[in-house]
Amino acid sequence: MPSSLHYRPGEPCDALCISGLATQVFLDTYATDGMRADLAEEALTVYAPTQFDTRLRHPDTRFILVERDAHLLGFAEIVAHAEGPMPRLSAGAELVRLYVQRHCHRQGLGRTLLENAEALMREADLPCLWLKAWAGNLRARDFYQAQGYEDIGGTHYEFGGNAYENRVFRKQLSTR
Ligand SMILES: CC(C)(COP(=O)(O)OP(=O)(O)OC[C@H]1O[C@@H](n2cnc3c(N)ncnc32)[C@H](O)[C@@H]1OP(=O)(O)O)[C@@H](O)C(=O)NCCC(=O)NCCS
Repeated sequence: MPSSLHYRPGEPCDALCISGLATQVFLDTYATDGMRADLAEEALTVYAPTQFDTRLRHPDTRFILVERDAHLLGFAEIVAHAEGPMPRLSAGAELVRLYVQRHCHRQGLGRTLLENAEALMREADLPCLWLKAWAGNLRARDFYQAQGYEDIGGTHYEFGGNAYENRVFRKQLSTR
């Protein structure tokens, strides 16, 4: 019988495994034409264990993890009152990362992590959850639309000296 999935909040002691998984998923998603210096640099800096340790300790940041047999399979990273590309977004929370290991795609882990993130932000009385997705990430765009997120516009992300188009998605969590 397959072991069951376990969802739980992330803690500072999880920084190493989150860093490992995040690096794997980031490069798997974005380094599809091979490795470049800007991608390698982002993976080794933004995704370093010390960076996740700092974010795990930040009072406005929450992590939700999903594990099976004590192996990390995915996580969501949410920041309350993050500054958004549109003024009204900062009243809500940003879903900064939602990463599921490729071997576990299309098994409902992403949807359940997202539902947990929404529930947490509803409990905190935040009116919406929003996120930026790279315009070329069609899998993510399809996923968020399937979860009831509305595409509310575009923004740009500077990376390695280039500007990339991001789409901004938003879901209302309360009537406030
Ligand atoms: C986007 C991501 C989190 C989705 O996670 P997942 O666990 O595979 O998604 P789920 O199994 O919960 O999918 C729920 C629903 O979303 C939609 N969906 C998910 N992946 C999809 C895809 N590749 N194409 C079309 N629809 C998709 C479907 O409606 C799916 O329901 P179904 O499988 O019953 O048809 C995952 O693909 C991922 O981690 N990608 C790499 C990192 C990334 O791009 N993160 C988002 C950055 S903004």
